[in-house]
Amino acid sequence: MKFFVDGADIQEIEELMAMGLVDGVTTNPSIIAKTGRPMEEVLRDICKIVPGPVSAEVISEDTEGMLREAKVLTKIAPNIAIKVPLTQAGLVACHRLSQQKVMVNVTLCFSPAQALLAAKAGATFVSPFVGRLDDIGYDGMELVQSIVMMYDNDPMIQTQVLAASLRGPRHVVVAAELGAHVGTAPASVFKKMLTHPLTDQGIQTFMADWKKSGLSI
Ligand code: E4P
Repeated sequence: MKFFVDGADIQEIEELMAMGLVDGVTTNPSIIAKTGRPMEEVLRDICKIVPGPVSAEVISEDTEGMLREAKVLTKIAPNIAIKVPLTQAGLVACHRLSQQKVMVNVTLCFSPAQALLAAKAGATFVSPFVGRLDDIGYDGMELVQSIVMMYDNDPMIQTQVLAASLRGPRHVVVAAELGAHVGTAPASVFKKMLTHPLTDQGIQTFMADWKKSGLSI
């Protein structure tokens, strides 16, 4: 499974890149708003360091507005993927953009039926939001499983399942087990995946034993 970082903090992205963990980046209007900087500027900085797909979300709710924004955003870098919401206007924009060979991430997917439509409309990625479904008492991973199964059943579907709204290490692991093509999570989640108390304890024991031995390398 590919790892996308859900965020816009360059330092955090670079830290994960140094470990080879970053296959791409996803952003959304809330993430960009938190930076307090213009969207184009933030995306340009990310694209300078990340060669994989960088999702940039449109703000307009009508197709023409989405396409206008997509025109500006795709000029930033060739690896920009346009993120459109799973609405009728969003799917029309997705269809048009995919015909122009622009990568499209159809976001805010909350049902298998919606995911089927996104694939038909030519999405490069569909983003089922696991955490937000869990938040309201549903099982977000059931949605990922269903989409993976449906897409696997149809050799014509090229759309990748991008498990989104992953909130912790367990989410990332289960998404990978279920066969999601991509998992996107904040940098903090990938950092949590790194640590284990037994790893720390093991290092301490090895170091103590080595020091006691008086040996050198
Ligand atoms: C993905 O593309 C979204 O930006 C993100 O995963 C949303 O996560 P949240 O539900 O934790 O805000």
